[in-house]
Amino acid sequence: MILFFTGALLLSCSTNESYAQDERIPSLKKVFDKNFLIGAAINARAIEEKDKAADALIIQQFNAVTPENIMKAEIIQPGWDSYNFDLADKLVAFAQKNKINVNAHTLIWHSQLPPFMRRMKDVDSVRKYFVDHITKVAARFDGKVYSWDVVNEALNEDGTLRNSIFLQALGDSYVVEAFRLAQKASPHSKLYYNDYNIEQPKKRAGAIALIKKIQSAGVRIDGVGIQGHWRADNVPMNEIEESITEFSALGIEVMFTELDLSVLKNPWDNNSANVSDTAKGNSSMNPYVSGLPDSVEQIQSKAYGDLFRLFLKYKTNVTRITFWGVNDGQSWLNNWPIGGRTNYPLLFDRNFKPKPAFYSVIATATSGNN
Ligand code: XIL
Repeated sequence: MILFFTGALLLSCSTNESYAQDERIPSLKKVFDKNFLIGAAINARAIEEKDKAADALIIQQFNAVTPENIMKAEIIQPGWDSYNFDLADKLVAFAQKNKINVNAHTLIWHSQLPPFMRRMKDVDSVRKYFVDHITKVAARFDGKVYSWDVVNEALNEDGTLRNSIFLQALGDSYVVEAFRLAQKASPHSKLYYNDYNIEQPKKRAGAIALIKKIQSAGVRIDGVGIQGHWRADNVPMNEIEESITEFSALGIEVMFTELDLSVLKNPWDNNSANVSDTAKGNSSMNPYVSGLPDSVEQIQSKAYGDLFRLFLKYKTNVTRITFWGVNDGQSWLNNWPIGGRTNYPLLFDRNFKPKPAFYSVIATATSGNN
Protein backbone atom coordinates (compact mmCIF):
# COMPACT_ATOMS: atom_id res chain seq x y z
CA MET A 1 0.00 0.00 0.00
CA ILE A 2 2.72 2.41 1.02
CA LEU A 3 4.68 1.46 -2.08
CA PHE A 4 1.63 2.06 -4.23
CA PHE A 5 1.09 5.52 -2.75
CA THR A 6 4.72 6.49 -3.14
CA GLY A 7 4.66 5.33 -6.74
CA ALA A 8 1.45 7.21 -7.48
CA LEU A 9 2.85 10.31 -5.84
CA LEU A 10 6.08 10.14 -7.79
CA LEU A 11 4.18 9.57 -10.99
CA SER A 12 1.81 12.49 -10.47
CA CYS A 13 4.66 14.73 -9.40
CA SER A 14 6.82 13.91 -12.39
CA THR A 15 3.84 14.39 -14.73
CA ASN A 16 3.17 17.79 -13.20
CA GLU A 17 6.76 18.88 -13.48
CA SER A 18 6.98 17.60 -17.00
CA TYR A 19 4.42 20.18 -18.17
CA ALA A 20 6.85 22.87 -17.11
CA GLN A 21 9.77 21.07 -18.74
CA ASP A 22 7.98 20.37 -21.99
CA GLU A 23 9.61 22.74 -24.46
CA ARG A 24 6.65 22.48 -26.85
CA ILE A 25 4.55 24.41 -24.37
CA PRO A 26 4.93 28.12 -25.09
CA SER A 27 6.00 30.48 -22.31
CA LEU A 28 3.72 33.42 -21.48
CA LYS A 29 6.61 35.60 -20.34
CA LYS A 30 8.50 34.98 -23.59
CA VAL A 31 5.50 35.39 -25.85
CA PHE A 32 4.57 38.75 -24.27
CA ASP A 33 8.17 39.79 -23.65
CA LYS A 34 7.94 43.03 -25.64
CA ASN A 35 4.49 43.90 -24.31
CA PHE A 36 4.08 43.55 -20.55
CA LEU A 37 5.25 41.59 -17.53
CA ILE A 38 3.31 38.40 -16.86
CA GLY A 39 2.84 37.54 -13.21
CA ALA A 40 1.24 35.11 -10.78
CA ALA A 41 0.32 35.33 -7.12
CA ILE A 42 2.31 32.71 -5.26
CA ASN A 43 1.72 30.99 -1.94
CA ALA A 44 4.04 30.09 0.93
CA ARG A 45 4.75 26.54 -0.32
CA ALA A 46 5.98 27.81 -3.67
CA ILE A 47 8.08 30.50 -1.96
CA GLU A 48 9.68 27.89 0.30
CA GLU A 49 10.37 25.76 -2.79
CA LYS A 50 8.25 22.94 -1.36
CA ASP A 51 5.95 22.79 -4.38
CA LYS A 52 8.33 21.69 -7.10
CA ALA A 53 5.74 21.53 -9.86
CA ALA A 54 4.49 25.04 -9.09
CA ASP A 55 8.04 26.40 -8.93
CA ALA A 56 8.98 24.84 -12.26
CA LEU A 57 5.91 26.35 -13.89
CA ILE A 58 6.47 29.78 -12.30
CA ILE A 59 10.04 29.85 -13.60
CA GLN A 60 8.95 28.74 -17.07
CA GLN A 61 5.94 31.02 -17.47
CA PHE A 62 6.22 34.17 -15.32
CA ASN A 63 8.58 37.12 -14.92
CA ALA A 64 6.64 38.72 -12.06
CA VAL A 65 5.24 37.38 -8.80
CA THR A 66 3.02 38.82 -6.07
CA PRO A 67 3.01 37.12 -2.65
CA GLU A 68 -0.59 35.98 -2.18
CA ASN A 69 -0.49 36.43 1.62
CA ILE A 70 2.94 36.46 3.23
CA MET A 71 3.64 40.20 3.02
CA LYS A 72 0.26 41.18 4.42
CA ALA A 73 0.29 42.99 7.77
CA GLU A 74 -0.98 40.09 9.92
CA ILE A 75 1.97 37.97 8.83
CA ILE A 76 4.77 40.50 8.44
CA GLN A 77 4.05 42.52 11.62
CA PRO A 78 2.21 40.26 14.09
CA GLY A 79 2.95 42.50 17.13
CA TRP A 80 3.93 46.09 17.96
CA ASP A 81 7.64 45.32 17.91
CA SER A 82 7.60 42.01 16.17
CA TYR A 83 8.28 41.72 12.49
CA ASN A 84 8.47 38.46 10.60
CA PHE A 85 10.47 38.90 7.41
CA ASP A 86 11.44 35.27 7.00
CA LEU A 87 9.14 34.30 4.12
CA ALA A 88 9.46 37.69 2.41
CA ASP A 89 13.25 37.32 2.43
CA LYS A 90 12.87 33.84 0.91
CA LEU A 91 10.58 35.29 -1.75
CA VAL A 92 13.13 37.97 -2.66
CA ALA A 93 15.90 35.33 -2.87
CA PHE A 94 13.75 33.00 -5.03
CA ALA A 95 12.87 35.89 -7.34
CA GLN A 96 16.44 37.14 -7.66
CA LYS A 97 17.72 33.66 -8.43
CA ASN A 98 15.16 33.27 -11.22
CA LYS A 99 15.13 36.86 -12.55
CA ILE A 100 11.55 37.51 -11.50
CA ASN A 101 10.16 40.92 -10.45
CA VAL A 102 8.41 41.03 -7.08
CA ASN A 103 5.31 43.16 -6.63
CA ALA A 104 5.02 43.41 -2.84
CA HIS A 105 1.45 43.22 -1.55
CA THR A 106 0.45 45.21 0.46
CA LEU A 107 1.28 47.99 2.97
CA ILE A 108 -2.08 49.55 3.90
CA TRP A 109 -5.25 47.46 3.63
CA HIS A 110 -8.28 47.13 5.93
CA SER A 111 -8.17 43.33 5.73
CA GLN A 112 -5.79 40.70 7.18
CA LEU A 113 -4.59 43.15 9.84
CA PRO A 114 -2.86 41.74 12.94
CA PRO A 115 -5.19 41.32 15.97
CA PHE A 116 -3.31 43.89 18.08
CA MET A 117 -4.00 46.51 15.44
CA ARG A 118 -7.63 45.59 14.77
CA ARG A 119 -8.47 46.24 18.42
CA MET A 120 -6.92 49.73 18.47
CA LYS A 121 -9.23 52.49 19.60
CA ASP A 122 -7.09 55.61 19.95
CA VAL A 123 -5.90 57.76 17.10
CA ASP A 124 -2.30 58.05 18.32
CA SER A 125 -1.81 54.29 18.33
CA VAL A 126 -3.23 53.90 14.82
CA ARG A 127 -0.99 56.72 13.62
CA LYS A 128 2.07 55.13 15.22
CA TYR A 129 1.22 51.74 13.68
CA PHE A 130 0.66 53.37 10.27
CA VAL A 131 3.99 55.25 10.26
CA ASP A 132 6.03 52.39 11.77
CA HIS A 133 4.56 49.70 9.53
CA ILE A 134 5.05 51.55 6.25
CA THR A 135 8.48 52.88 7.18
CA LYS A 136 9.94 49.66 8.52
CA VAL A 137 8.51 47.25 5.94
CA ALA A 138 8.99 49.45 2.86
CA ALA A 139 12.57 50.38 3.85
CA ARG A 140 13.53 46.76 4.43
CA PHE A 141 12.64 45.82 0.83
CA ASP A 142 13.59 49.06 -0.93
CA GLY A 143 14.96 48.20 -4.35
CA LYS A 144 14.73 44.48 -3.52
CA VAL A 145 11.15 44.47 -4.69
CA TYR A 146 10.24 45.93 -8.06
CA SER A 147 7.08 47.56 -6.73
CA TRP A 148 4.62 47.95 -3.86
CA ASP A 149 0.85 47.93 -3.67
CA VAL A 150 1.09 50.82 -1.20
CA VAL A 151 -2.65 51.08 -0.56
CA ASN A 152 -5.15 48.35 -1.36
CA GLU A 153 -8.94 48.72 -1.66
CA ALA A 154 -9.45 52.17 -0.11
CA LEU A 155 -12.66 52.85 -2.06
CA ASN A 156 -16.36 52.02 -1.85
CA GLU A 157 -18.38 51.11 -4.93
CA ASP A 158 -19.70 54.70 -5.19
CA GLY A 159 -16.18 56.11 -5.28
CA THR A 160 -16.14 57.46 -1.71
CA LEU A 161 -13.49 56.35 0.76
CA ARG A 162 -14.16 53.09 2.59
CA ASN A 163 -14.89 53.54 6.28
CA SER A 164 -11.78 51.65 7.40
CA ILE A 165 -9.85 51.94 10.65
CA PHE A 166 -7.40 54.16 8.74
CA LEU A 167 -10.07 56.59 7.51
CA GLN A 168 -11.67 56.73 10.97
CA ALA A 169 -8.44 57.47 12.80
CA LEU A 170 -6.42 59.45 10.28
CA GLY A 171 -8.98 61.22 8.10
CA ASP A 172 -9.20 61.38 4.34
CA SER A 173 -5.58 62.38 3.69
CA TYR A 174 -4.33 58.98 4.86
CA VAL A 175 -3.87 57.61 1.32
CA VAL A 176 -1.64 60.56 0.35
CA GLU A 177 0.27 60.12 3.62
CA ALA A 178 0.78 56.40 2.95
CA PHE A 179 2.36 57.17 -0.42
CA ARG A 180 4.47 59.98 1.10
CA LEU A 181 5.87 57.60 3.74
CA ALA A 182 6.42 54.82 1.17
CA GLN A 183 8.23 57.21 -1.17
CA LYS A 184 10.59 58.22 1.63
CA ALA A 185 11.25 54.68 2.84
CA SER A 186 11.45 53.08 -0.58
CA PRO A 187 12.83 55.45 -3.22
CA HIS A 188 13.93 52.56 -5.48
CA SER A 189 10.67 50.62 -5.84
CA LYS A 190 7.61 51.63 -7.81
CA LEU A 191 4.51 52.66 -5.88
CA TYR A 192 0.99 51.60 -6.89
CA TYR A 193 -2.65 51.96 -5.86
CA ASN A 194 -4.60 48.66 -6.18
CA ASP A 195 -8.35 47.95 -6.04
CA TYR A 196 -11.20 45.82 -7.45
CA ASN A 197 -14.06 47.12 -9.60
CA ILE A 198 -12.23 50.39 -10.33
CA GLU A 199 -13.06 49.78 -13.98
CA GLN A 200 -16.68 50.59 -13.03
CA PRO A 201 -17.53 54.28 -13.71
CA LYS A 202 -18.31 55.54 -10.17
CA LYS A 203 -15.51 53.72 -8.43
CA ARG A 204 -13.16 54.63 -11.29
CA ALA A 205 -14.00 58.32 -10.81
CA GLY A 206 -13.14 57.92 -7.11
CA ALA A 207 -9.81 56.29 -8.01
CA ILE A 208 -8.98 59.06 -10.48
CA ALA A 209 -9.72 61.72 -7.85
CA LEU A 210 -7.55 59.86 -5.34
CA ILE A 211 -4.63 59.56 -7.76
CA LYS A 212 -4.90 63.24 -8.71
CA LYS A 213 -4.87 64.15 -5.03
CA ILE A 214 -1.63 62.20 -4.53
CA GLN A 215 -0.08 63.79 -7.60
CA SER A 216 -1.09 67.33 -6.69
CA ALA A 217 0.45 66.87 -3.24
CA GLY A 218 3.74 66.34 -5.09
CA VAL A 219 3.89 62.70 -3.98
CA ARG A 220 4.98 59.88 -6.28
CA ILE A 221 2.50 57.31 -7.59
CA ASP A 222 3.73 55.17 -10.49
CA GLY A 223 0.69 53.14 -11.38
CA VAL A 224 -2.73 51.74 -10.71
CA GLY A 225 -3.69 48.08 -10.43
CA ILE A 226 -7.13 46.92 -11.52
CA GLN A 227 -7.53 43.59 -9.70
CA GLY A 228 -9.63 41.81 -12.35
CA HIS A 229 -11.69 39.27 -10.37
CA TRP A 230 -14.37 38.83 -12.99
CA ARG A 231 -16.91 36.22 -14.09
CA ALA A 232 -15.93 34.41 -17.30
CA ASP A 233 -19.38 35.05 -18.78
CA ASN A 234 -19.53 38.68 -17.71
CA VAL A 235 -16.24 40.50 -18.29
CA PRO A 236 -16.86 44.28 -18.44
CA MET A 237 -14.87 44.86 -21.64
CA ASN A 238 -16.09 48.41 -22.37
CA GLU A 239 -15.47 49.63 -18.85
CA ILE A 240 -12.02 48.04 -18.88
CA GLU A 241 -11.11 49.82 -22.11
CA GLU A 242 -12.38 53.18 -20.80
CA SER A 243 -10.37 52.64 -17.61
CA ILE A 244 -7.15 51.94 -19.46
CA THR A 245 -7.46 55.21 -21.41
CA GLU A 246 -8.60 57.31 -18.44
CA PHE A 247 -5.96 56.01 -16.03
CA SER A 248 -3.24 56.31 -18.68
CA ALA A 249 -4.19 59.96 -19.18
CA LEU A 250 -2.95 60.54 -15.62
CA GLY A 251 0.54 59.63 -16.79
CA ILE A 252 0.78 56.39 -14.81
CA GLU A 253 1.13 52.68 -15.57
CA VAL A 254 -2.01 50.54 -15.76
CA MET A 255 -1.87 46.94 -14.58
CA PHE A 256 -4.22 44.00 -14.17
CA THR A 257 -2.99 42.65 -10.91
CA GLU A 258 -5.20 39.78 -9.68
CA LEU A 259 -6.75 38.36 -12.82
CA ASP A 260 -9.00 35.31 -12.53
CA LEU A 261 -12.19 34.49 -14.43
CA SER A 262 -14.57 32.55 -12.21
CA VAL A 263 -16.92 30.02 -13.79
CA LEU A 264 -19.14 29.88 -10.68
CA LYS A 265 -21.92 32.18 -9.53
CA ASN A 266 -21.43 34.30 -6.50
CA PRO A 267 -24.42 34.86 -4.23
CA TRP A 268 -24.67 38.54 -5.12
CA ASP A 269 -24.01 38.23 -8.84
CA ASN A 270 -21.64 41.16 -8.87
CA ASN A 271 -17.89 41.36 -9.25
CA SER A 272 -17.09 42.36 -5.68
CA ALA A 273 -13.88 40.93 -4.27
CA ASN A 274 -14.40 42.06 -0.69
CA VAL A 275 -12.76 39.20 1.22
CA SER A 276 -15.02 39.63 4.25
CA ASP A 277 -18.20 39.08 2.19
CA THR A 278 -18.78 35.35 2.54
CA ALA A 279 -21.84 33.15 2.18
CA LYS A 280 -23.06 29.60 2.70
CA GLY A 281 -23.49 27.50 -0.39
CA ASN A 282 -25.45 24.49 -1.58
CA SER A 283 -24.72 21.98 -4.34
CA SER A 284 -26.45 24.10 -7.00
CA MET A 285 -23.77 26.72 -6.34
CA ASN A 286 -21.06 24.10 -6.96
CA PRO A 287 -22.02 22.39 -10.22
CA TYR A 288 -18.62 21.36 -11.66
CA VAL A 289 -17.17 19.13 -8.96
CA SER A 290 -16.30 16.38 -11.41
CA GLY A 291 -15.12 18.51 -14.30
CA LEU A 292 -15.75 21.62 -16.36
CA PRO A 293 -18.16 21.20 -19.32
CA ASP A 294 -16.64 22.06 -22.71
CA SER A 295 -19.27 24.75 -23.25
CA VAL A 296 -18.12 26.63 -20.13
CA GLU A 297 -14.45 26.04 -20.96
CA GLN A 298 -15.16 27.64 -24.34
CA ILE A 299 -16.72 30.74 -22.79
CA GLN A 300 -13.76 31.19 -20.48
CA SER A 301 -11.25 30.61 -23.22
CA LYS A 302 -12.90 33.25 -25.43
CA ALA A 303 -13.10 35.74 -22.55
CA TYR A 304 -9.38 35.37 -21.84
CA GLY A 305 -8.60 35.82 -25.54
CA ASP A 306 -10.77 38.96 -25.76
CA LEU A 307 -9.08 40.41 -22.70
CA PHE A 308 -5.55 39.84 -24.00
CA ARG A 309 -6.45 41.33 -27.38
CA LEU A 310 -7.54 44.44 -25.50
CA PHE A 311 -4.38 44.47 -23.36
CA LEU A 312 -2.28 44.25 -26.53
CA LYS A 313 -4.17 47.13 -28.10
CA TYR A 314 -2.95 49.23 -25.15
CA LYS A 315 0.45 47.62 -24.75
CA THR A 316 2.18 51.00 -24.37
CA ASN A 317 0.02 51.76 -21.30
CA VAL A 318 -0.49 48.32 -19.78
CA THR A 319 2.69 47.19 -18.03
CA ARG A 320 1.79 43.97 -16.20
CA ILE A 321 -0.84 41.23 -16.17
CA THR A 322 -0.78 39.10 -13.01
CA PHE A 323 -2.97 36.04 -12.46
CA TRP A 324 -4.21 35.47 -8.90
CA GLY A 325 -2.72 32.02 -8.41
CA VAL A 326 -0.75 29.44 -10.37
CA ASN A 327 -3.23 26.64 -11.01
CA ASP A 328 -7.00 26.13 -10.65
CA GLY A 329 -6.62 23.95 -7.56
CA GLN A 330 -4.66 26.64 -5.73
CA SER A 331 -7.04 29.52 -6.47
CA TRP A 332 -8.65 31.38 -3.58
CA LEU A 333 -11.92 31.16 -5.54
CA ASN A 334 -12.34 27.53 -4.45
CA ASN A 335 -12.95 28.97 -0.98
CA TRP A 336 -14.34 32.45 -1.54
CA PRO A 337 -17.04 33.68 -1.28
CA ILE A 338 -18.35 30.18 -0.53
CA GLY A 339 -16.07 27.58 1.05
CA GLY A 340 -15.21 24.19 -0.48
CA ARG A 341 -16.24 24.72 -4.11
CA THR A 342 -14.50 23.55 -7.27
CA ASN A 343 -13.64 26.54 -9.46
CA TYR A 344 -11.54 26.78 -12.62
CA PRO A 345 -10.50 30.45 -12.95
CA LEU A 346 -6.88 30.30 -14.19
CA LEU A 347 -4.87 29.21 -17.25
CA PHE A 348 -3.48 25.96 -15.77
CA ASP A 349 -5.51 23.01 -14.47
CA ARG A 350 -5.07 21.15 -11.19
CA ASN A 351 -2.17 19.16 -12.69
CA PHE A 352 -0.49 22.34 -13.99
CA LYS A 353 -1.51 21.40 -17.52
CA PRO A 354 -2.22 24.37 -19.82
CA LYS A 355 -5.97 24.76 -20.48
CA PRO A 356 -7.71 25.93 -23.67
CA ALA A 357 -7.73 29.41 -22.08
CA PHE A 358 -3.90 29.32 -22.02
CA TYR A 359 -3.71 28.60 -25.75
CA SER A 360 -6.34 31.23 -26.44
CA VAL A 361 -4.16 33.82 -24.64
CA ILE A 362 -1.02 32.65 -26.47
CA ALA A 363 -2.85 32.91 -29.80
CA THR A 364 -3.48 36.64 -29.28
CA ALA A 365 0.27 37.26 -29.36
CA THR A 366 0.88 35.28 -32.49
CA SER A 367 -2.06 36.59 -34.50
CA GLY A 368 -0.08 39.54 -35.81
CA ASN A 369 -1.24 42.34 -33.55
CA ASN A 370 1.73 42.64 -31.23
C1 XIL B 1 -6.82 36.69 -0.83
C2 XIL B 1 -5.95 35.43 -0.83
O1 XIL B 1 -5.89 34.91 -2.14
C3 XIL B 1 -6.51 34.42 0.14
O2 XIL B 1 -5.61 33.32 0.27
C4 XIL B 1 -6.74 35.06 1.51
O3 XIL B 1 -7.36 34.13 2.37
C5 XIL B 1 -7.59 36.30 1.39
O4 XIL B 1 -7.00 37.20 0.46
N1 XIL B 1 -7.98 41.11 -3.13
C6 XIL B 1 -6.66 41.19 -2.70
C7 XIL B 1 -5.97 39.95 -2.29
O5 XIL B 1 -6.04 42.26 -2.79
O6 XIL B 1 -5.01 40.19 -1.29
C8 XIL B 1 -6.94 38.88 -1.83
O7 XIL B 1 -6.20 37.68 -1.62
C9 XIL B 1 -8.02 38.68 -2.87
C10 XIL B 1 -8.81 39.95 -3.07
